[in-house]
Amino acid sequence: MVRHASAFAEAAAAWIVDAIAAVLARRDRCSVALTGGNTPRAIYQRLADRHVDVPWGLLDIYFGDERRVPPDDPESNYRMAVETLLGSVPVEPARVHRMQGELEDGALAALEYERELPPALDILLLGVGADGHTASLFPGAPQLRERERHVVVSVSPLPPTGRLTITPPVIAAARRVAVIAAGGSKAQAVARALEGSFDPYTLPAQFALRGSWLLDDAAASLLRVVPA
Ligand code: 6PG
Repeated sequence: MVRHASAFAEAAAAWIVDAIAAVLARRDRCSVALTGGNTPRAIYQRLADRHVDVPWGLLDIYFGDERRVPPDDPESNYRMAVETLLGSVPVEPARVHRMQGELEDGALAALEYERELPPALDILLLGVGADGHTASLFPGAPQLRERERHVVVSVSPLPPTGRLTITPPVIAAARRVAVIAAGGSKAQAVARALEGSFDPYTLPAQFALRGSWLLDDAAASLLRVVPA
């Protein structure tokens, strides 16, 4: 499903609210993994505005990746999520599962997070980089071939270079996946992902092809076929 609307943040927030409701119609709790970066800021703020529409006490919040910085660092995905959403909604603090980006021992941080992750996430939100990366899985990276581990250390070509990330098996196991992309800088990566040949090792966002791609007009602007 390619959804692009002028009110991109509203549409993406609505998708998330609907997805949570669909999960809770069949299960008594819902796990949601947040994406980092800047695109989700406006979406998370809309979710906070609509906080009454979500039973936050039934959610477990996870992260798809994190920069290896302290949680109060301006580059922290956790900090961004707290500023835009988690600090404004009644989610149980013990149910917010933060990746420990501050740990010197990245392998330990990855192992500990792997133990916290459920076997399958109910909802996984992912972003897309202009280079086609998703989470902190970058083109050509060895982590793209990981089939056993669920969380690993990775290296970003752009700072902050130290990362923790979920691996392709976690994306494959997630029950619902949304890929969010906004802005013209993502248009080429989106078109290559959705309409180019399948090669997730050069375009990691293709690991999430089966997901719902939530795009604004600019990010969808190079698509040949734009389903309604
Ligand atoms: C991160 C994200 C990363 C992000 C893309 C897009 O830690 O940066 O998880 O995968 O989603 O880089 O980032 P923007 O939304 O800032 O363009």
